Amino acid sequence: MSDDPVRIALVGAGRMGRTHLEALELARGVTVAAIVEPVASVRAALPARGYTMHASVEALLAGDDFDAVLIAAPSDQHLALVRTFAAAAVPMLCEKPVGVGAGEAIEAAAAVDRAGVIFQVGYWRRFVPELRALRERIAGGELGEIFQVCGFQWDAEPPSAQFRAHSGGIAVDMAVHELDQTRWLTGQEVAWLSAARGAGGPEAGRDPDVAMILAQLTGGAAATVSLGRTFPHGDCCWVEVFGSAGYERVPFMWGEPGERVFRDALVAQAEAFAATVRGAPQRGAGAEDAIAALSAAELAGDALMDGQPRALSPAVPM
Ligand SMILES: NC(=O)c1ccc[n+]([C@@H]2O[C@H](COP(=O)([O-])OP(=O)(O)OC[C@H]3O[C@@H](n4cnc5c(N)ncnc54)[C@H](O)[C@@H]3O)[C@@H](O)[C@H]2O)c1
Repeated sequence: MSDDPVRIALVGAGRMGRTHLEALELARGVTVAAIVEPVASVRAALPARGYTMHASVEALLAGDDFDAVLIAAPSDQHLALVRTFAAAAVPMLCEKPVGVGAGEAIEAAAAVDRAGVIFQVGYWRRFVPELRALRERIAGGELGEIFQVCGFQWDAEPPSAQFRAHSGGIAVDMAVHELDQTRWLTGQEVAWLSAARGAGGPEAGRDPDVAMILAQLTGGAAATVSLGRTFPHGDCCWVEVFGSAGYERVPFMWGEPGERVFRDALVAQAEAFAATVRGAPQRGAGAEDAIAALSAAELAGDALMDGQPRALSPAVPM
């Protein structure tokens, strides 16, 4: 295994891409080799740190000065980008949700599988130490039988209209995090779910600013996902787990310290990806996780439209 830093090309330098850039600068075993960003004004506003700038993926692929990519382009471009980089045999760390519908994540997984390339998905909470400890405690039986998992994600303010137009709506954009987190924490899949909107009315379609998802899990636990885009404490996420032998509330991202938790998790995620590129086993989420979270999220988006419950696993009756 080589000890050379993995040369990463960042694809998409918007809000999240720039957050990744800061994390990549801190990560060990990684260097930022290049940035692909189609908007000239966005490229011009990036820090001048000697990155090679490209306006297109084609221009990046014309050179060979990178080993792997971090995809932080809009969600509705994920599938096309995954196909392109898979065809070029480039290892990928791709932002969630890997498309705006489950069909896109399934196609992306097939492309990655055919190419046999490394594909990690940016479910960064898997790298938050508090959540890793909670997962170990659940797996070790310390909380007993898991009765209920309640995930909360409340942002300080809504994203831009431009972002929303490419995001797939609140369930696909936001709830995928809690859906992946619930699966990862409990080892249980979503069997069926329903959803309600808390603001915006029917004219908000699949993208109200407040939503609540109620899910039955395959192992018998219940789960909720609470989402909102106006919160006085900043961008916050927390989880509560109710078990027969214990209760845990983990406010892992809360106010200003939460920003550091987020950044540190992105650093750890990038380091894990680089280690995988250098031959270590994959530690982050993979294509199958993207499909599972996005399948549930897409159905939650459907349920938001008509209030009807949706089944993912026919084995568990609604
Ligand atoms: N993991 C998280 O917590 C988290 C948080 C925020 C966003 N995200 C994800 O990150 C992705 C980007 O979100 P954002 O908030 O940065 O959006 P954004 O709109 O701020 O930025 C997207 C950037 O990608 C660029 N772009 C468009 N097409 C491109 C292409 N083909 N190749 C390269 N760049 C391209 C745009 O010009 C823009 O600068 C989304 O998929 C979103 O779901 C994840």
